[in-house]
Amino acid sequence: MSPRVWRIGVAGLGTVGGGLLQFLSERPDFAPAGGRAVITGVTARSRSRPRSIDISAIPWFDDPVALATSPDIDLFVELVGGSDGPAKAAVEAALKAGKPVVTANKALIAEHGAELAALAETAGVPLLFEAAVMGGTPAVKMLREAMVGDDVVGVAGILNGTCNFILSEMEQRGASFADVLSEAQRMGYAEADPTMDVGGFDAAHKVTILAALAFGCAPNYAAAEIEGIDQVDLLDIRLARDLGYRIRLIASADRTADGVAVRVHPSLVAQGHPLAETRGALNALFIEGTRIGRIFIQGPGAGAGPTAAAVAADIADVMTLPVRPVFQRPAGDLKPFVAVAPTRRVGKAYLRLLVKDQPGVIAAVSETLAECGVSIDSFLQKPVEDAGGVPIVLTTHAIAESVLTDAINRIEKLPAVLERPRLLRIARI
Ligand SMILES: NC(=O)c1ccc[n+]([C@@H]2O[C@H](COP(=O)([O-])OP(=O)(O)OC[C@H]3O[C@@H](n4cnc5c(N)ncnc54)[C@H](OP(=O)(O)O)[C@@H]3O)[C@@H](O)[C@H]2O)c1
Repeated sequence: MSPRVWRIGVAGLGTVGGGLLQFLSERPDFAPAGGRAVITGVTARSRSRPRSIDISAIPWFDDPVALATSPDIDLFVELVGGSDGPAKAAVEAALKAGKPVVTANKALIAEHGAELAALAETAGVPLLFEAAVMGGTPAVKMLREAMVGDDVVGVAGILNGTCNFILSEMEQRGASFADVLSEAQRMGYAEADPTMDVGGFDAAHKVTILAALAFGCAPNYAAAEIEGIDQVDLLDIRLARDLGYRIRLIASADRTADGVAVRVHPSLVAQGHPLAETRGALNALFIEGTRIGRIFIQGPGAGAGPTAAAVAADIADVMTLPVRPVFQRPAGDLKPFVAVAPTRRVGKAYLRLLVKDQPGVIAAVSETLAECGVSIDSFLQKPVEDAGGVPIVLTTHAIAESVLTDAINRIEKLPAVLERPRLLRIARI
């Protein structure tokens, strides 16, 4: 019997789509379970744009929805991007037409995952998105498949390579956020509009997906608490280093008795911790289960080669495996996402103040903290040139965030305090 040919339609021929075409041209032997993958239709915005490989022999579609529903494809691969618009329309159309879908689109899955999962499961076809989180490093399959026998209680990691590149360069070279960002844009590590990355939204999309896979709940991007790295000051990076920490953008999802907390924050991580030592554009993730314990994975989170390899692995799964539920349990059986109220959040914190160089300031700050019930763990006062005042840094013992916010509001009003105190969380990993 000759091997089954899988006819694949690819929407989007940019970094990831171009990488996939390149992969399939370099690997004509790519035939999981004996089946063969052949691209029988492509679409992108511009037909005339030069591509990394010759696509003139592949049928061209002007409309992604027409490609997604074409009788000439068996599997639709969406690599356009965006939570709505043509990507969503085409994925919905493919699933309704009963075609398996592979996508790298984290925004789409984080924001519309539950409804798409329902469509996929009604049609009885897979909806796979390994490349959407950590690019070529297999985090999605790890949670959806390998850890399905455990009860995952939390995940935490570095899920945005652009932010990690910027933070590690700021630390190593003593350069400002703005300077490193422009360099990252010149090198192609950051987009012309960097908001999705530096604002923390990309990491929030990814950790929203991981939370759904880890806890079997519907993805709920709206419930994510998001803070990016655009306000991270070089001064804080230096002071954190003096206290034995590095600043990293930590994306985490925790399951507690109160519900699920999905958060993205610049956080202090102790030097020597694997996340603190994850540098450059690398991604890294801890997964904690009640039976397996802790697992750590680290690897590339973006780029044509790694991401295309993850897309190819999903194509291989469509060709070989029985269909599993999209988010670890059937769409109709996903647990409701109960978000933990911010007032219930407890953790250690770093507070940095900028004060006038005059007597009595430290006493006034300490008194205010004591009145609010904030217990101090360590204290550092350090003259720093050009800081515009004297920086005072303190770290706290674990404290409810609502108490800390109250203390910050009161300290800000002290006459010797020059600006609102800067709060950074100390990662609990
Ligand atoms: N880049 C990465 O390393 C990476 C990693 C993980 C996941 N992802 C995800 O993968 C997806 C694709 O990312 P990418 O970096 O490959 O993006 P990209 O380089 O900007 O490519 C996007 C592609 O979509 C096409 N496109 C845009 N609007 C379209 C429309 N209305 N109709 C049809 N085609 C349209 C573009 O056409 P033209 O080429 O004609 O402009 C282009 O080929 C996104 O969801 C992204 O989040 C990317």
